[in-house]
Amino acid sequence: MYVCVCNAITDREICAAADLGARTIEDLQASLGVATCCGRCADCARGVLASALDAHCACAAGGD
Ligand code: FES
Repeated sequence: MYVCVCNAITDREICAAADLGARTIEDLQASLGVATCCGRCADCARGVLASALDAHCACAAGGD
């Protein structure tokens, strides 16, 4: 699913970024550009990142 509509970033891309070492929303902003436009996705992006870090990308198993 799309997390950041402005930049067309999906939960899978956030999970992949977490696998590559992203640990904070700032990391996601730097690597993917999440939450760099309207910013409305920041809370959701944080949640997806936290889930990815907790469950090692369990969010990627849901499909989209
Ligand atoms: S939806 Fe992510 S910056 Fe707008």
